[in-house]
Amino acid sequence: NPSAPKLPLTVLIAAPRGFCAGVDRAIEIVERALSRYGSPVYVRHEIVHNKFVVDGLKAKGAVFVEELDEVPDGVPVVFSAHGVPKSVPAEAEDRGLEYLDATCPLVSKVHRQAERQIEAGRHIVFIGHKGHPEVIGTFGQVPEGSMTLVETVEDVAALDIALETPLAFLTQTTLSVDDTAKVVEALSIKFPNIVGPKAEDICYATSNRQAAVKQIAPGSDLVLVIGAPNSSNSLRLVEVAERCGTTARLIQRASDIEPAWLEGVGTIGVTAGASAPEMLVREVVDKLDEWREVEEHTLVTAEEKMVFKLPRQLA
Ligand code: F3S
Repeated sequence: NPSAPKLPLTVLIAAPRGFCAGVDRAIEIVERALSRYGSPVYVRHEIVHNKFVVDGLKAKGAVFVEELDEVPDGVPVVFSAHGVPKSVPAEAEDRGLEYLDATCPLVSKVHRQAERQIEAGRHIVFIGHKGHPEVIGTFGQVPEGSMTLVETVEDVAALDIALETPLAFLTQTTLSVDDTAKVVEALSIKFPNIVGPKAEDICYATSNRQAAVKQIAPGSDLVLVIGAPNSSNSLRLVEVAERCGTTARLIQRASDIEPAWLEGVGTIGVTAGASAPEMLVREVVDKLDEWREVEEHTLVTAEEKMVFKLPRQLA
């Protein structure tokens, strides 16, 4: 009944949410490359895991491919924020391709740590999600066989590595803070001599977004996480909300929201993964506002001031 008064809905918006400094930088690299070189600029893999961002850059003349052999000679290519195996820039150099590396500096930092641990003669146990491009990129920094992937505490129990082997652990940047702490603990118990970074390599943006969800989820009847199904940090936000006992749903756009989800919901939490633009958060709030009398609150749990420098060629 369109003339009936709309029911009230409190919308609790998490902060920080959405774009991190690495995503901002990666998108800016593609945009600046387009204005410097003109289109087409090729991008190897989705620059960040968000369809809206990728479609926006496509419209400006970016062409997305999965592998370097799909890039024609003589055009610039950008490597995505997730990082690439060493073989990729090497191949680009062999072919004389101009390339721009949009790997997040916090991922590059893990790459350098991996190299250092191998130089120090250690085998690396890497905590991450099998098949994720960041994991593929980090494995591609070291000789084959010098790094072993674990995803869970069970994987640690199953590890068959001699106790006297010098070991180090490293992690993907977008993991669950809580799960990773358990995996690191299991590793340290099983291999008392394992060395690792002071804190795990989970980045500031990932941990801040998880902490922010923990603040909005307990008081919400439903949490909406704006992000892509292949976005690791967005999937972790859904898990964190659910572990607070609140139903959580991953959505890509406002149009994914089904009106039935809002039945009996008085307070709804909203957050966005690190690759989801703020525009999509506004779109979601506007959609909710069509159905209900929305009262919007933002809950700030941290301030972020991180900015990363652009690659030399574009600065
Ligand atoms: Fe970098 Fe973390 Fe964002 S690793 S790309 S700052 S989610």
